[in-house]
Amino acid sequence: MAKTTPRHPGYVRDRMKALAASGELNARNADRHWLYEESVQNVDRELEFIDRVFKRHYGRKPTFVREDFCGTALLCAKWVAHRRGNTALGVDFDGPTLDWGRANNVAPLGDRAGRVTLMEDDVRNVTSPLCDVLAATNFSWWGFKTRAALGAYFRNCHASLRQEGLLMLDCFGGPEAQVAQEEERSLEGFDYIWDQDGYNPITGETRCHIHFDFPDGKRLKRAFSYDWRIWTLAETHDLLLESGFSAVDVYWEGTNRGGEPNGIYRISVKGDSAPAWVAYLIARR
Ligand SMILES: C[S@@+](CC[C@H](N)C(=O)[O-])C[C@H]1O[C@@H](n2cnc3c(N)ncnc32)[C@H](O)[C@@H]1O
Repeated sequence: MAKTTPRHPGYVRDRMKALAASGELNARNADRHWLYEESVQNVDRELEFIDRVFKRHYGRKPTFVREDFCGTALLCAKWVAHRRGNTALGVDFDGPTLDWGRANNVAPLGDRAGRVTLMEDDVRNVTSPLCDVLAATNFSWWGFKTRAALGAYFRNCHASLRQEGLLMLDCFGGPEAQVAQEEERSLEGFDYIWDQDGYNPITGETRCHIHFDFPDGKRLKRAFSYDWRIWTLAETHDLLLESGFSAVDVYWEGTNRGGEPNGIYRISVKGDSAPAWVAYLIARR
C-alpha cells in the first residue's frame, strides 16, 4: 500500500475518489482504511437509527455517543457533524488507525473537531464519561469469545451509560454465516470481497477476511482479518439481561415488495428464515 501524507483535511479521501473514478486505483496506491469505509460502513443509516430508537424510549434526541472499536472513528465524526451540540468518544486500542481517523475524519470537522475525543485503550478499561448511546458495530464485540469475557464487556458497557442510555450492537447470522464462502460486491474503482474462511461448529468460532480486487487484476489480500465467535441473538439477549440491562430488543430488517432487505430495522420477536441476515440489538440501561 502506498503511503499517503494528508496535505489538507480530506486529502486522502479526495485522492482515492479521483483514482477510483479514473480506474487507476490499485493494490499499491489504495488506502485500506478508505477502502474499508467505502465498502463496509453505512454510518448515515446508523445515525438515523440511533436518533429514532433513543427518541422512542426517552422522548428526545441523544447528544453524546461513544463508539467502541471505533477504528477510524467515522461514526464519531459523522455524529458530531449530524447535529450542533453533539459530542462523541471513540475507543480503540490501535494507535495508527486512530491517527488515520484523526487526520481524515476528525480534522475535516473544522470548528467541531474538538467535540470528538479519541481514546487509545482496550474498550473494557473505559467507563467514563457516561454516554447516552454506546455503539459497538460491525460485529467487533465478537472478539470476546467466552461468556465470561463477553459478560465482563457488557457489564462495562452498562456502567458506561447514563441513566437514560442505550447499548447498540449488530449481529449477523443465518445458515450462510456457517459456511466457507466468498461474497463479492463491485464499487466504483474496486471490488470488495468478504471471505468466510471457516466455521467451527463446536466452538462457534469463525475466521473472516476482507480482500479488495482492482481493475488491473491484482488483489489486496487480507486487508483486514477477523477471529470471532458467532454469538446468536438469543444467547446475547440473555447475557445482556444477566449483565444488568433492564430490557433488550431485537431490530430485524424489513423487506420490500420483491422480498429484498430494505435497510429499515424494526422491533421483532419473530425474525424470518433468511439465509443470511444482519440485525441490531438495543439494550436499555
Ligand atoms: C472491524 S473494526 C471496526 C471499525 C468500525 N467501528 C466499524 O464499525 O466498521 C474493529 C476495530 O476494533 C479494534 N479492537 C478490537 N478489539 C478491541 C478491544 N478489546 N479494545 C479496543 N479496540 C479493539 C481494532 O483495533 C479495530 O480497529
